[in-house]
Amino acid sequence: MKTKQNIKQSFDKGAKSYESNCDIQRLICHQLVNFFLERKEKITLSEGIKGLDLGAGSGILSIELLRFIKFEKLHLIDFSDKMLELAKKKIKQNFVTYEVTDFENLNEIEEFNFIFSNMSFHWSKNFNKFLKKLLEKISNNTLLFFSIPNSIYFEKKESFSNLNNLMNKLPDIKNLLNELDKTKYFLESKNITFKENFNNLFSFFYKLRSIGANVNTENKKKSLIRFRKQKTNLSVFYNINFVLIKKL
Ligand SMILES: C[S@@+](CC[C@H](N)C(=O)[O-])C[C@H]1O[C@@H](n2cnc3c(N)ncnc32)[C@H](O)[C@@H]1O
Repeated sequence: MKTKQNIKQSFDKGAKSYESNCDIQRLICHQLVNFFLERKEKITLSEGIKGLDLGAGSGILSIELLRFIKFEKLHLIDFSDKMLELAKKKIKQNFVTYEVTDFENLNEIEEFNFIFSNMSFHWSKNFNKFLKKLLEKISNNTLLFFSIPNSIYFEKKESFSNLNNLMNKLPDIKNLLNELDKTKYFLESKNITFKENFNNLFSFFYKLRSIGANVNTENKKKSLIRFRKQKTNLSVFYNINFVLIKKL
């Protein structure tokens, strides 16, 4: 419970500079929309699209989808009221609603037939459990698509010992997708690696902090002090999973 509270507070704090520092999230969001559009012909969308953006943040994914999809209604959920305020300021259509709540509650999820999420699901308490429950609860013919980081790694890793310990453990989604009953669910997934360059390791962690994404979810002591003299340029690689599931 405390971890969730910390995540919420951190995104509340990050809200003021999220939009100017979320370049990677934007790139991933754009690829997620492409990933969906490329598969649109293969899946028949239900009449009357009732959209749900889980962990909507400042609304970048909803805003991009509004360019292509004629929504009957669209509901944006986030437990950070400060993040959701950013979305409210930008999306003005009268069929769009907002709710400050935890997406893991899955309240009244059955009424939505078009559910999506960009870079938020890895903050859930137990992603595999959450996804299983979500897939059970959604109605037939509902489409779910999302992006989620698979791994984050650094170039010249060997010179920064134990760097991986500084990062949160990310969910292993591969096995879960392999186990999915393909007679009940249509599934497509793809991986893309994004690269971002930094002047030094600290600037990477500062950027994470500036968007509120620096919460330590494992309650392990993690100190950056030993890296303070590390001044060399580095590249960070974000390996992202794009997943589209339709409940048949
Ligand atoms: C990295 S941001 C992504 C926001 C947005 N989807 C985007 O693409 O820019 C992650 C968002 O998920 C929200 N979040 C994390 N865990 C959540 C939960 N359990 N319930 C609701 N929102 C959550 C955070 O508040 C934050 O706004």
